[in-house]
Parts: sequence; C-alpha cells; structure tokens
Amino acid sequence: MSVKKRSEKLKTINGFFEIQLKINGEAKNLKVKSNEFLLDALRRCGWRGAKKGCDTGDCGSCAVLMNGKAVLSCLTPAVKAHIADITTIEGMGTFEKPHPIQEAFVETGAVQCGFCIPGMILSAKDLLDRNPEPDEDMIKHALDGNLCRCTGYVKQIEAVKLAAKRLKSDKVIR
Ligand code: FES
Ligand code: FES
Repeated sequence: MSVKKRSEKLKTINGFFEIQLKINGEAKNLKVKSNEFLLDALRRCGWRGAKKGCDTGDCGSCAVLMNGKAVLSCLTPAVKAHIADITTIEGMGTFEKPHPIQEAFVETGAVQCGFCIPGMILSAKDLLDRNPEPDEDMIKHALDGNLCRCTGYVKQIEAVKLAAKRLKSDKVIR
C-alpha cells in the first residue's frame, strides 16, 4: 500500500506510537516510543546498516535518506518518519548486485573498516540525485559531516567522482 494513501494521524498503542512508513520501498508499521530516535528504532527493528557512532550528530555514520534527503537518524525523532520514505544502506544494493556508488567506494579503496561507509554512501546518493555532475567542492561539502577514522578522505572523493561518471555513462536509474 502506498504510504501516501495511509492515514496521516499517528495511532497510539499501549504507550507506543505506530508509525507508517516505507523502508527501502516496502510499507512498514513500526511501534516507537515518543522519545525514541529513528536510528534506535531502525536498529531495534532489524535495519542495522545505519551505524551508531557518536549519537550526538557529529559523525554522520547514522545517515539515512528521508524522502530522498540525507538526515542524521540519531537526531531525528522516530515519529518524524511517519508517512516518510526511508532509505537505509540495506536498500541501496546487495552483495551480488551492489549500487554503482557502493562499487565505486570499493574499487577506489575508500572502504577500510567500513564503519563510516553506510553514512558516506547515503550522503553521496543524496548529492548525486540532486546533482549528477558535482565538482570536487560540492563533493567535499556533501561529505563534510561524515567522519572517517581510517582514511584521509581522498579516496571517498575519488569514489563519488567515479560513481558520478558511471551513473552518467551507464544511465543507471536507481
Ligand atoms: S551517530 Fe549520528 S551523527 Fe554520529
Ligand atoms: S573506513 Fe573506517 S571509519 Fe571510515
């Protein structure tokens, strides 16, 4: 069922709110607490791709897309995801069929321990969906909230440039 056709009114059940949303294209109902953040709700319900790094909005490892825009799920109240489309890293690609952005990150050596990568990839997707031909400053700006303890940030910029080139030449629509 389309999320947009669902009731916009939040239901409460035994002190929990029931939010209706789409996660990676599938309609879901999640029971969340009024003070629960989206990161915790997603991880509690089985979407563990978004990582809990700082939990204070400083590292970007928890980034997910909400209605196509990258948000920090550790600072986003879960109830705000009611009637939203959420994309987590699990919705980007599979091991057998990775998304071109994921392929580019691996091929350029941008992935080391991997902890920061889900957030980086979703920030990159937000950018490339809005601007398929970003220059280096735009890429740096898009990724500047995503901290990485392993790399010097050069490889991730190369990865986004490669992904942009591939997405353009392959005309991949995702
Ligand atoms: S865990 Fe959300 S910004 Fe660090
Ligand atoms: S690859 Fe390890 S934190 Fe970025």
